Amino acid sequence: MTISGLTLSRPLNVGLIGLGTVGSQVAARLLAWGPQLSRRAGVELCLQKVLVRDPNKPRSIEISHDLVTTDPSAILDDPSIEVVLEVAGGHEPMRSYIERAINGGKHVITANKVVMARHGPELLDLAAEKNVDVYFEAAVGGGIPLISTFRTDLQANRIERVSAVINGTTNYVLGRMASAGLSMTEAVREAQAAGYAESDPTDDVAGYDATYKLAILASIAYEIKVRPADIHREGIDGVEPVDFRYARELGYAIKLIAHTQRHPGRVEARVHPAMIPLDHPLARVEGAENAVFVEGDLVGQVLLVGQGAGGRPTASAVVGDLIDLSRSIRRGVQSRPSFSFDDRIGVVPIGEVMTRAYYRIRVDDKPGVLAAISHVFAEEGVSISSVIQKDAWLEDLAAELVITTHPALDASLQRTRQRIANLEPVRAVSSFLRVF
Ligand SMILES: NC(=O)c1ccc[n+]([C@@H]2O[C@H](COP(=O)([O-])OP(=O)(O)OC[C@H]3O[C@@H](n4cnc5c(N)ncnc54)[C@H](OP(=O)(O)O)[C@@H]3O)[C@@H](O)[C@H]2O)c1
Repeated sequence: MTISGLTLSRPLNVGLIGLGTVGSQVAARLLAWGPQLSRRAGVELCLQKVLVRDPNKPRSIEISHDLVTTDPSAILDDPSIEVVLEVAGGHEPMRSYIERAINGGKHVITANKVVMARHGPELLDLAAEKNVDVYFEAAVGGGIPLISTFRTDLQANRIERVSAVINGTTNYVLGRMASAGLSMTEAVREAQAAGYAESDPTDDVAGYDATYKLAILASIAYEIKVRPADIHREGIDGVEPVDFRYARELGYAIKLIAHTQRHPGRVEARVHPAMIPLDHPLARVEGAENAVFVEGDLVGQVLLVGQGAGGRPTASAVVGDLIDLSRSIRRGVQSRPSFSFDDRIGVVPIGEVMTRAYYRIRVDDKPGVLAAISHVFAEEGVSISSVIQKDAWLEDLAAELVITTHPALDASLQRTRQRIANLEPVRAVSSFLRVF
């Protein structure tokens, strides 16, 4: 593929949309590191305009007023701007802006996971048609090089599975629940105070953010169209402090896991809290860090770890994409392979996925309870791996059973959960977690 805009002598003009956490770091690097970036890019990079909502807002960096605009046309309709960096976020109007930029023959670099997860394949197809490129390294895993790793370094492989801790907020929250015994509410409050969680943490805690990122990763890993709506999603709100204690006794950590795996003709894709063996690399991911564990048929296992968010790590990915793109423009060729998405491969419904499970069940402390529960497991064809009976609470004559299973169909595990909850001596199935 040839790429439009071949030029060596004149600068490459760049328009930036967004001057917040990420945008200000992108602008700072472009403005302060001109000669180094130009040397690496092989062309002078010129920040031409910056689109914001409020031009009078105080900014964390010094930037000339002449560069700042509130008019999207000043970037999208300026023929001298060849590359648009979109680091504003949200669905609309950014999806339309990206589409408009592509239709106008501009290359796009975006950090927008919502737009790329929901519309990535169409935007990439449109870009191929218009002979421009869309880069989106920053949309998944912040500064961790994931998209370029799949797109270039691992391209000789058939990717078999990807398991990831890709939401720093929930990893921080679960970590604090595990280490300090905090409730979820307390841990979220602490994460907000530390700047790891938004004032409305729903996107993170309910698993939406991880789902968007997994949709992008799975689409790129298998070259198929995986939509956020195809992915089974559960947040971390059902996990209680006591689960961490039992998990540790059983040899596990609890993490919000984004997992995708290849099956004949289909793929599995799910986001949910899970118990991970303590010796698995993902069990050791601490704080707001992210980690992605990839298995390819040639390369074997690869672990990528780093800062999955933050202005500077994310700007590293955006500006890295810009240098890569600039080199392609300078040479007049697209050096990276373009995507071709196979429409025939879909996502396996969660009920058909084989997995193991952990149940925490609160029961009346009387004879015959375990037999009744075991009977349900047997009828559903779910084989029990371990049972631990916790001490009875004398004050209300209740006991807690912790049961783990061997692999079974998720649908059977769910039916078992419902049927057990309806048994007369069972007070509640207080927790259900999948086990990796
Ligand atoms: N923050 C991170 O750690 C991180 C990590 C990975 C990816 N990302 C992605 O990077 C993107 C930006 O995130 P951020 O944290 O930098 O966001 P942010 O701090 O909220 O900044 C957003 C910027 O975009 C501008 N903006 C928003 N809507 C606009 C509109 N309709 N027209 C013009 N300007 C608009 C805002 O202008 P005003 O300043 O005038 O309000 C602001 O400068 C998002 O897609 C996010 O998912 C962020």
